[in-house]
Amino acid sequence: MTALVKLEGLSKSFAGIRVLKDVDFDVQPGEVHALLGENGAGKSTLIKIIAGVHAPDGGVIRIGNEELKAITPHEAAKGGIATVYQELLLFPELTVAENVFLGHAPKTRLRTLDWSQMRRRARQLLDSLDSPDLDVDVKVGTLSVANRQRVEIAKALSQDAKVLIMDEPTAALADADVRRLMTVIKRLRERGVGIIYVSHKLPEIFELADRVTVLRDGALIGTRAIGDVTEQSLVAMMVGREIGQLFPKPEPQVGETLLKVSNLSFGDRVRDISFELKRGEILGVAGLVGSGRTELALTIFGITPATSGTIEIEGRAVTISTPKQARNLGIAYVPEDRGLQGLVKPMTIGQNISMAALHRITNGIFINFKAEAQRAADAISQLGIRARGPEQVVGQLSGGNQQKVVLGKWLETEPRILIMDEPTRGIDVGAKAEIHALMGRLAQKGMAILMISSELPEVLGMSDRVLVLHGGRLVTTIDRAHANPESVGAAMTRATLAQEAA
Ligand SMILES: Nc1ncnc2c1ncn2[C@@H]1O[C@H](COP(=O)(O)OP(=O)(O)OP(=O)(O)O)[C@@H](O)[C@H]1O
Ligand SMILES: [Mg+2]
Repeated sequence: MTALVKLEGLSKSFAGIRVLKDVDFDVQPGEVHALLGENGAGKSTLIKIIAGVHAPDGGVIRIGNEELKAITPHEAAKGGIATVYQELLLFPELTVAENVFLGHAPKTRLRTLDWSQMRRRARQLLDSLDSPDLDVDVKVGTLSVANRQRVEIAKALSQDAKVLIMDEPTAALADADVRRLMTVIKRLRERGVGIIYVSHKLPEIFELADRVTVLRDGALIGTRAIGDVTEQSLVAMMVGREIGQLFPKPEPQVGETLLKVSNLSFGDRVRDISFELKRGEILGVAGLVGSGRTELALTIFGITPATSGTIEIEGRAVTISTPKQARNLGIAYVPEDRGLQGLVKPMTIGQNISMAALHRITNGIFINFKAEAQRAADAISQLGIRARGPEQVVGQLSGGNQQKVVLGKWLETEPRILIMDEPTRGIDVGAKAEIHALMGRLAQKGMAILMISSELPEVLGMSDRVLVLHGGRLVTTIDRAHANPESVGAAMTRATLAQEAA
């Protein structure tokens, strides 16, 4: 069978640094080919070359029988290559149908736009994607991430895509939406579409992929049939070494209560929640999407200040109505959505990291640039940020490495209480273990950590106790000895049943 797309000896450098070295890759009709590797390995760069965003420095691209040195976005579209990027590229002010057919709308015989056909075909495409509930006449700006992604996929299909590229499509999706996406991908594969799939979530890879290709530091480590690899062997290919324990959790030395929350509410999003967080403790927060996990963090941090209830820090009642007050009380918050809330992309790693703790490197008038560079260099090595150095602009880092910078920025404030929302989302397996080890060390040094996570293994592996939320309420608290997939899962779902019965 001829490959739909085939890359041979592909190379690419940015500013003299090689990020892809002599890479071969191909995708066949009717297969899911997963592309794996650590943060900064070159996955997104490879994809952008196929999509025509970046031109390679060397190598050959074959589309069907055509041989090209580089590919333009127009040639990519003509060749049936469609890409769903993580940062979705739709027009919020246009409707679903308009977005799907933008640039290739059906015309009437009078050469005017055929609106009814456009809406009808958009409807058919969305139905074929299991999305009968998605209205073709609403503006895309009002849709959830999952629905916007469906519109992107419908747009790709409307152009008769033969190759569909997806870069971390499930990173921001809830479980149920992930399941739906998996079904859609399998159906497209049956129709003969070739799918290039990037994800850090290995269970997804084993469910979907027919073949896997691993990149490390821009070099091709190997391409294998999925039946020939195990989770362990893939991890070893990715990181080039055995990684130790997946959740390295030192014995906690739990001290006195640092944070006490009583009957905390924010409208009907956070309802009457009470708990204590102790020095040296990692308190996990589990719950389904919409259970109020993030809202709880936002309320404690003063972004959506409490409408009732009290917060005490070290036994003293405090008022937190702004994030600034929270910071002054020694609370740091690493948000879930790092792209929007965490970073200034045109600024350097050093500037971003020092931003939250400026007082530490100034005398009030001048910034001590040497101190700034030193602290940034420390963060780079401590968090394993893959970068040229503290002076590199954050926007040039790979997705996962940008997330590590956000983490570094908040750790730099040396908080007493650290709230982390999805601390390892988009972070590769090796770096994940490093961040977990770091959390363990911080707790041992006496930091109190509130960790929100939708990954059950992470909650179970890292938490001393687990709070389970549902519908904005605290359903139960489970200690480490009794926390397992069954008990936590049951708490999350039994609550659902109880609520439905009520
Ligand atoms: N525009 C750019 N200018 C300079 N360097 C860049 C640019 N884009 C990417 N890089 C560098 O290329 C390397 C590969 O980045 P890429 O985004 O392809 O990684 P990735 O495998 O997708 O990682 P992640 O899993 O974190 O998304 C990184 O070292 C990154 O800093
Ligand atoms: Mg990437």
